[in-house]
This record gives sequence, C-alpha cells and structure tokens, in this order.
Amino acid sequence: MKKIKNIVLLVVASSLLTACGPGAKDSHPQQLLTKRIAIFKNFTKTLEPMGLVARDRKEYVKAEFAAQAQALQELSTQPWPYFSADGNYPPTRAKPEVWTNASGFKNAQDNYLVAVNQLVTASGNADLPAIRNSVDAVQKSCKNCHDQFRSDTPNGQ
Ligand code: HEC
Repeated sequence: MKKIKNIVLLVVASSLLTACGPGAKDSHPQQLLTKRIAIFKNFTKTLEPMGLVARDRKEYVKAEFAAQAQALQELSTQPWPYFSADGNYPPTRAKPEVWTNASGFKNAQDNYLVAVNQLVTASGNADLPAIRNSVDAVQKSCKNCHDQFRSDTPNGQ
C-alpha cells in the first residue's frame, strides 16, 4: 500500500515538472504575450457557440447570436497592439514574419476584421445560409492568418 502511494506521488510530481513549459513566466514587464493569448482564447470561446449554430447543433436565437457577433467584433481589434516591436520573445508561437512582414500581418488582420463585420451584419437577419457563410468566412480568416503567422511550436524550443 505504501509503495503504491509513493508511485502515485512520483507520477504527480513528474507531471508537475513537465507542466512548467506552458506555465512559464512571461518575462516582459507589460506581459504582452500573456495579454494577447488571453484575448485569442476569448476569440475561440466567443466564436464557438456561433460555430455550433452554423453547423445546426444549436438553435439560432437572433438576439443571442447578434450579441455574440458583437462581442467578437469588440475583441477583434484587441490583440494586435500587443505584437509591438519588443513583443517577440519565448514562448511565443508567433512566427518571425509577424515582425518581418508587418504589412502582410496587417493585411491578415484587415481581412479578419472585414469577415467579422460581415458576420455582425448577417447576425440579425435570421438568414441561416448567410449566417453559415459568414461564420465560415471568419473561421477561414483565423486559419489564413495562423497558416502564415503562427507556428505549431513555441519559439526557443
Ligand atoms: C492576423 C492574424 C491572426 C488572426 C486573424 C487570428 N489569429 Fe489567432 N493567433 C495569431 C498569432 C500570431 C498567434 C500566436 C500568438 C503568440 O503565441 O504570440 C495566435 C494564437 C492564437 C491562439 C493560441 C492561444 C494559446 O493558447 O497559445 C488561439 C486559441 C487563437 N489564436 C485563436 C484564434 C481565433 C479563434 C481566431 C479567429 C476568430 C484567430 N485566432 C484569429 C494570429 C491570428
């Protein structure tokens, strides 16, 4: 019995050790990385229920959907100032191109904002095919930017 307890403790201790990667301290005094990642996580959380409606897995309720689209619109301009010139440090997953191809990165932001604005316009019209297309377009513009500017692994690792 004692032996089993020790093994359990060992497993817990070693999983705590390996968990230190993503939980690594943000070295920047303004916590740029932590702040932009928190906003991106909110992108995902806010878009998710609209994705369910678009795939017929959740009922479309006009006022609710319109509020969600507006919440995404409000978030959509927020991450970019946190990619300032001094914002490239580990463990960011941003590719160096964010900083070396600033106009391309700005372009991807603009395309994304256009898609979100279209979603807001469609959100109150109860026209489900149009809503589906708009949700698709937003998801595609997230992916387009990620394909160009986000890597699968954090830098410095
Ligand atoms: C203009 C480019 C761009 C657009 C548009 C964009 N992202 Fe990202 N996203 C990034 C970059 C760059 C990172 C990496 C940030 C870092 O690690 O410094 C990122 C990171 C993330 C992360 C990772 C957070 C973590 O835990 O590491 C999530 C989740 C995410 N984005 C979701 C989305 C969603 C959902 C959308 C669309 C609704 C979206 N993003 C639109 C560029 C973009």
